[in-house]
Parts: sequence; C-alpha cells; structure tokens
Amino acid sequence: MRPILTTALAAALLGTTVARADDTAPVTHEPTRKECGECHMAFQPAFLPARSWTAMMAGLADHFGEDASLPEDTARSIRDYLTANAGDRVSGKLARKYMRWVAPDGAPQRITENPAFVKEHRFRDEVWKLPQVGAKSNCPACHKQAELGLYDDD
Ligand code: HEC
Ligand code: HEC
Repeated sequence: MRPILTTALAAALLGTTVARADDTAPVTHEPTRKECGECHMAFQPAFLPARSWTAMMAGLADHFGEDASLPEDTARSIRDYLTANAGDRVSGKLARKYMRWVAPDGAPQRITENPAFVKEHRFRDEVWKLPQVGAKSNCPACHKQAELGLYDDD
C-alpha cells in the first residue's frame, strides 16, 4: 500500500504538469511532425543524443537509403528542435535509460539498435515480419500511443 500512497501524494504535491517527464513529450514542432512523420512516425528526440541528430540532418540525401532532403531552412529548424530536445539535453527516465548506452562521442543513427531497445524487444524474427509490423521502427504498430510518447500502456 505504501508505494501507492506515495505516488498519490507525489501527484498531489507536484501536480499533473510534471507528472510526465519531458523526455517523451509528443513532438510538437510542426515541421518535424510533418517532414519526419511522412515515412515513419516522428520519433521523440530523446531517443538519440544531439550528436546523432546533427549527423542525421547533415545526411538526409542518403537517409537509410532514401532521399529525405529538405530545404536548408526547414532542415535547420528541425535540427534545432531535435538537438534541443535530444536525450543528452533533457532529463527523464527514458532519456537516461537510452543515453547510458551511448559512448561520449557516439552518434548512433538507430534507436532500434540501442541496447535499451533491444532488451525490451526480444521477439522472434517472425514478429517483426508480421504484415502489420514490418519493421522495428514501426513503433505505432504495437504502441498505439507512441506518437503521444506513451510506450508502457499496452
Ligand atoms: C522518404 C522517407 C523518409 C523520410 C522523409 C524520413 N525518414 Fe527516417 N527513415 C526512413 C527509412 C526508410 C528508415 C529505415 C527504417 C527501417 O529500417 O526500419 C528511417 C529510419 C529513421 C530512423 C532510425 C529508426 C530506427 O530503426 O531506430 C530515425 C531516427 C529517423 N529515420 C529519423 C528521421 C528524421 C529526423 C526525419 C526528418 C528529418 C526522417 N527520418 C525522415 C525514411 C524516411
Ligand atoms: C512488435 C511490437 C513492437 C514494436 C514494433 C515496438 N515495440 Fe516497443 N515494446 C513492445 C512490447 C511488447 C514492449 C514491452 C511491454 C510494454 O512495456 O509495453 C515494449 C516496450 C517498449 C518500451 C519500454 C516501455 C516501458 O516503459 O517499460 C519503450 C520505451 C518502447 N517499447 C519503445 C519503442 C519504440 C521507440 C519503438 C519504435 C522505434 C518500438 N518500441 C517498437 C513492442 C513493440
């Protein structure tokens, strides 16, 4: 019973605005939502460090084999949003969980190769190949509220 009381008390004291860490806040930056949500969901920036986003935004012409080029000002605006909200710039449980596996000078390009991700997604190969899934990067296939930053509700 005690943890429940503690949680209720904390919620009452802190209020709802801080009940959710900002590391999984939905992507609110409109150009990012639009341009980076076209081929897959717009991933929350806290899953990668700022270095990763800088590198990715500099190489959009060959983005995992796709041409995802953008006009320079749009790309800059998206980069600024992604880096400002990156996993090594915001606080929160999820950011901490993912950043602890990133080397100090590392700039990984995949969320789905982070050991934190791998550990929580040890499924058989067939699961990823299901027509309704298709790829590890298809978060909303399994997390209906992924775009809201909610991953532990299902
Ligand atoms: C033209 C289509 C397209 C657009 C537009 C696009 N992407 Fe991607 N992106 C891809 C593809 C394809 C992959 C690889 C997916 C896979 O292997 O599952 C990918 C993968 C990623 C991954 C790695 C996912 C993983 O496996 O962890 C990240 C992060 C990412 N994209 C970010 C972005 C950002 C940021 C933008 C906007 C600037 C963007 N993408 C725009 C096609 C696109
Ligand atoms: C094939 C289904 C599937 C896909 C695709 C998938 N996940 Fe998951 N994920 C799960 C399951 C199942 C769990 C463990 C149960 C749970 O906590 O919901 C999980 C757990 C998680 C957790 C831990 C939740 C917590 O609070 O303990 C995070 C974070 C997460 N996934 C993020 C992602 C992200 C980001 C993507 C896309 C890049 C993704 N997942 C793609 C099925 C999936």
